[in-house]
Amino acid sequence: MTPFDPNAFVLEHDQATPKNILKAAYEAFGQLTVSFSGAEDVVLIDLALKVAPKDKVHVFCLDTGRLHAETYEFIERVREHYAIEIDIRFPDQQAVQDLVREKGLFSFYQDGHQQCCGIRKVAPLRQRLAGLPVWVTGQRRDQSPGTRSQLQIAERDTTFGSESSPLYKINPLTHWSSEDVWNYIRSFDVPYNRLHEQGYVSIGCAPCTRPILPGQHEREGRWWWEDQGGKECGLHVLNLPPVAAKD
Ligand code: ADX
Ligand code: SF4
Repeated sequence: MTPFDPNAFVLEHDQATPKNILKAAYEAFGQLTVSFSGAEDVVLIDLALKVAPKDKVHVFCLDTGRLHAETYEFIERVREHYAIEIDIRFPDQQAVQDLVREKGLFSFYQDGHQQCCGIRKVAPLRQRLAGLPVWVTGQRRDQSPGTRSQLQIAERDTTFGSESSPLYKINPLTHWSSEDVWNYIRSFDVPYNRLHEQGYVSIGCAPCTRPILPGQHEREGRWWWEDQGGKECGLHVLNLPPVAAKD
């Protein structure tokens, strides 16, 4: 098989629909591993199942232990709705215990979210991605002007991949707006997280997510006590400029 070239993929498919981007990714890799956060990125699952056989679509979700009850309920609803397996990943018990014993349950309000995200999300993600050639994310440019405005539909993932085991990231929703996503959800009767009915737009962990007010950007509902500029939790460090990415 010829090696995957993300630049050529972008040139060829940048203007394609998310469905056709996923179709092309499936043709290139023979499988799709979708990272599902329990929010509106459910559209990726709906689309992936339209372009690839069910046994070639792998869905995983990082359960940080701090998700909203509504998100757990939603993940379960998605599993039943599509009759799929969702690979729910958990953080290392010892690492969580040590963090909580040392700093309590809300240390991120004092010293930033990087350490807790590192333990609860990034380490389990690294484990899940080990040896994989590709993963699909629901990132969009409009989600975060500070960090995602340069996002591409295909990228080499140098954070979780390596020279000997290259990993690529496919972001089919790159050019979709929030409105596009919601039009799709309504048109195709896709299940959604009930928190969206309560003013939540971007949804992550419960203590680090809040509803937004009219006119606020969706990212303002995440880690709101921190600087607006560099809000990535470590899953998508690629989006940060090189200096910030080292933190
Ligand atoms: S985050 O890095 O700030 O938390 P965001 O919530 O915008 O990410 O989600 C962007 C994409 O990252 C999601 O569409 C999904 O592909 C992936 N992602 C984020 N959180 C999770 C999670 N808990 N489990 C699996 N994938 C996730
Ligand atoms: Fe911890 Fe908040 Fe990061 Fe969730 S989003 S892993 S609770 S710091």
